[in-house]
Amino acid sequence: MILVTGANGNLGSATLAALRARGANATGGSRTPGEGMRRLDFDDPAGIDLRGVSTLLLVSAGYAEDDRVIGRHAAVLDAAVRDGVRHVVYTSLIGAGDHLAFALAHRATERLVRACGLPWTILRNGLYAELFGGLLWWSSDNAGPVVESAFGDGALAAVTRADLAEAAAIVAADPTPHVGRTHELTGTPITARRVADRLGVPHLTIGLDEYRRRLLEETPGLLPFQPPMLASIATAIRHGFLHATGPDLAAVLGRQVTDPLPTATAAAAATRPAAPTSSS
Ligand SMILES: NC(=O)c1ccc[n+]([C@@H]2O[C@H](COP(=O)([O-])OP(=O)(O)OC[C@H]3O[C@@H](n4cnc5c(N)ncnc54)[C@H](OP(=O)(O)O)[C@@H]3O)[C@@H](O)[C@H]2O)c1
Repeated sequence: MILVTGANGNLGSATLAALRARGANATGGSRTPGEGMRRLDFDDPAGIDLRGVSTLLLVSAGYAEDDRVIGRHAAVLDAAVRDGVRHVVYTSLIGAGDHLAFALAHRATERLVRACGLPWTILRNGLYAELFGGLLWWSSDNAGPVVESAFGDGALAAVTRADLAEAAAIVAADPTPHVGRTHELTGTPITARRVADRLGVPHLTIGLDEYRRRLLEETPGLLPFQPPMLASIATAIRHGFLHATGPDLAAVLGRQVTDPLPTATAAAAATRPAAPTSSS
């Protein structure tokens, strides 16, 4: 049986759906398990039960400081070895993302995966098209709405979550050809200006200092580790460190990768503030 972790998250749920669509014997693990899923909370190591799992698809459980994230991944890998899992697939971060503030937790986990003694595959995921679109900042000037970002003219080889989920499902359903391989999964380059063009609004570039100020002063709800993480994404895109594309995703999918521009545009459109009504 294949078990997908983070099964109520965006990538995990899409991967589980893709596995089931392929007819694979797959289930999900989640902190909030639905019908037929296993309870799986990496922050509760004693409760991790992977008996009966042949292939573990470990979706990274980020969104915390490095020690927490690496500790979570170490706990589930220890359980995988103990419980007789036969192959581990880990969803990591694209190699070009080494400059990003959250890269270290991924690279440390890759070390753990390679050293755990089980056959493994590492899927180094590029940044999501959904993330890129969602990071554009709506504002307005005298002429109407604009989108702002600190990305400048920098391009991101953005990738849709759906493509990454399908690739993960393909690998997990038949891991043998992927044993010991690290796949770099990128999409095609897009810029903030191209997203803005599709939205029919101008794109204005802001400086990294202004971006960080907005994160710190105007973005309620961010956890302390998030402003440096987001600022690191902005500087890496702006300065051309994340634009390169590669052949691995198309090779795994057996088809062309999906154009990320419509997905990024939809994500940006979803955060567009409602136009003020004439009575307001
Ligand atoms: N490539 C990118 O652009 C990008 C962007 C953002 C994040 N990421 C990374 O990719 C991962 C998947 O992305 P996503 O879009 O699916 O994120 P997501 O929707 O936020 O899902 C992440 C899932 O991780 C699981 N998780 C968190 N803490 C956990 C814990 N203590 N034990 C077990 N599971 C835990 C949760 O699954 P349950 O709710 O089912 O427990 C959570 O829903 C993220 O966790 C992050 O590490 C990548």
